[in-house]
Amino acid sequence: MTKAFVGIFGYPVGHTLSPLFQNAAFKALGINAEYVVFEVAPKDLEDAVQVIRSPEFLGANLTIPHKEKVIPFLDEVTSMAKKCGSVNTIVNCGGKLRGETTDGPGFIRSLKEETGMSPKGKRILLAGAGGAARAVAFALAEAKADVYLTNRTAEKGEKLVSDLKNFYPQNTVTYIPFSERADALRREKIDILINATSVGIEKEKNLPLTIPSPLRGEDNRLIVCDLIYNRKTLLLQSAQRLGLKTIDGLGMLIHQGALSFQLWTGKTAPIKKMFAAVK
Ligand code: ATR
Repeated sequence: MTKAFVGIFGYPVGHTLSPLFQNAAFKALGINAEYVVFEVAPKDLEDAVQVIRSPEFLGANLTIPHKEKVIPFLDEVTSMAKKCGSVNTIVNCGGKLRGETTDGPGFIRSLKEETGMSPKGKRILLAGAGGAARAVAFALAEAKADVYLTNRTAEKGEKLVSDLKNFYPQNTVTYIPFSERADALRREKIDILINATSVGIEKEKNLPLTIPSPLRGEDNRLIVCDLIYNRKTLLLQSAQRLGLKTIDGLGMLIHQGALSFQLWTGKTAPIKKMFAAVK
C-alpha cells in the first residue's frame, strides 16, 4: 500500500499537538500514513484544499483561522457543521470533499469518559462565544442539555444564543449577562460549568468564572470544565481546592482527533495510545 497523508492547515500552526497523537495512532494500528502540518495563509486556503482531493490524501484538519472560511471550498458539509458554521475535519471521499465538525462531539465524549455524565437534561453554564464555545454550545444543545451562556461582549453572546434558539427551538437556551455569571451558578442550579473563553491559555490574573465559596451542599456536585489544555488554569485549581470534579481540555482535544481519525480510516482510534503520546 502506498503511503497516505492527512494534513492540518492553520496559520500559524506551530503549537499544534495533533501530529503527535495522530501519528501515534497510525503507528499503533500499523496504518502506512502520516499526519503533516501545513502552514497555509488565508489567501492560499482554496488552493491548499484542492490538494486534499488527490488519492493519497485521506483528508485534513483545519485550525485557526480556517474553520469557517473553508466551507465554500467543500463539496458537502454535514448538517452539524453547517449549524455551527465551522469545519475542523475534511474527509476525502474519492475526490469529493466532505466537511465535518468533531470539536463539539469531542467535548461530549470527553465529558462522558471522564465524569460518566451525559449532558441530556443537565443545566450548563458556558462562558464564551468564540469558535470553541460555539462548537461546544451546539453539541450540548444537540444532546438536549439546558444551555446558559455568558460572554464578556454581550452582543456576541446574545448572537450565539439566538442562533442556538433558531436551530433548537424546543431547548432551554438563556443568555446570562456577564456581571451575573457568579450568581447564576446557584440561581439556575447549574450542574456543569464550562470555560470556553481564551482566559487561562497564558497565565491569567483573573478567573473568567467564580465558584461560590464556601460551598453549600447542593454545589458539591458541580463539575467544572476548562477547554484549555496547555496548563492547569486558575479556574481548575480553585475548583480542585473546593473538592469539585474537574476536566481540562486535553480530553476534548484527543477525542475530537479520535473522531476525525475514525472518519479518515474507518477504524476505531486507539485512544489510550493517543493520550500517552501527549502526556
Ligand atoms: P476561540 O476560537 O478559541 O474560541 P475566540 O474566537 O478568539 O477564540 O474567542 C475568545 C473568547 O474568549 C471570546 O468569548 C472572548 O470574549 P469576547 O467575545 O468578549 O471577546 C473571550 N475572552 C477573551 N479574553 C477575555 C477576558 N479577558 N475576559 C473574558 N472573556 C474573554
